[in-house]
Amino acid sequence: MSLDIGLFESYWHLISHRLELPETGDYVRFDTPIGEVVVFNDQGNLLAFDNLCPHRGARIFSEDAGTQGFSCRYHGWSFRSGQIHVPDPHNYQSCDLASAKLNTYLLDWCGDFVFVAIKPLSTLNDQLGTLSETLENISFNINARVDLNRYEFECYWPIAVENALEPYHIPLIHSETLATLQLENGLNVFDGCNSVWHAPIGNKRIHKQLTGFKKLFNIDFQQEEYLSIFLFPFGMLSSTFGYSYSLQNFFPSETAEKTNFTSRLYSVNSASENATKIIDPFIRSTQAVNRRVFDEDHEICKLVPARSWSPSPLKFASQQEEKIAHFRNECSQFLAKGSRSDNS
Ligand code: FES
Ligand SMILES: [Fe+2]
Repeated sequence: MSLDIGLFESYWHLISHRLELPETGDYVRFDTPIGEVVVFNDQGNLLAFDNLCPHRGARIFSEDAGTQGFSCRYHGWSFRSGQIHVPDPHNYQSCDLASAKLNTYLLDWCGDFVFVAIKPLSTLNDQLGTLSETLENISFNINARVDLNRYEFECYWPIAVENALEPYHIPLIHSETLATLQLENGLNVFDGCNSVWHAPIGNKRIHKQLTGFKKLFNIDFQQEEYLSIFLFPFGMLSSTFGYSYSLQNFFPSETAEKTNFTSRLYSVNSASENATKIIDPFIRSTQAVNRRVFDEDHEICKLVPARSWSPSPLKFASQQEEKIAHFRNECSQFLAKGSRSDNS
């Protein structure tokens, strides 16, 4: 089995927040190395599946997110309250129509965050370890998705993930965006297969400004720093001062040298209606800056071909690339486990 499909099938992936799917018909859609994954709200119950009609495999949901009834345009099969409805069941004489079902995947929660898995190696709780509590706290502070941005990165996914794991490139690649925060080296915390970077904001003016914003928010979890949580193997959740959260997925593509990149920006609870009005332009500017940062990352990742990557340790690793070593080690261990089970 390839590394890409193996990792996708063996781990839980954070893909959405409860507030993105509150009503019947709400859905989110992802491209992954095993095809599409859709999570949709079926009369209040969330289901994850492969986005294919159980009749002859037509795709059901076509946008990245939206709201629509579950009805197949091809021959009219529909799905509601856990049941498939076939318009003319008497037409199916020689088959067991009752056995038709969606190809569903596993779904679980950490607080209000939605995770999906195919054949996970462990429970979600075990995979997240001590990060569960942090993620739960973060999820309860979120009040809306305010941006959704998806495109193909023209690079192999570990190139994009490793770029997101190291701050070494920030001064050169993000000189007018992220670099303005003057992030300090900070602290890397390794937690099972995941890792967290806590970076103090070195720009005194920006730090003071952000501290001053505190009264505008009604949040009970805050780290007054730049926080970047890597959820092995494909997820990144980052925040400045806990005033918004950016969730990024770097899913492998079915095509080599491409990454299915999706980013979502979540806003958090504000202290009052008036505060919301003040926060609004701040959120809009975060949205614009984030998009620019991702474009800058994409441009540089395009320069690194897939053959430049391997799970072996970096030959020349700066201190700021410590998290890459941890990531590669996790990939190597996964591959070693795979080859042991292939041989047994
Ligand atoms: S493929 Fe969906 S109803 Fe036939
Ligand atoms: Fe970057």
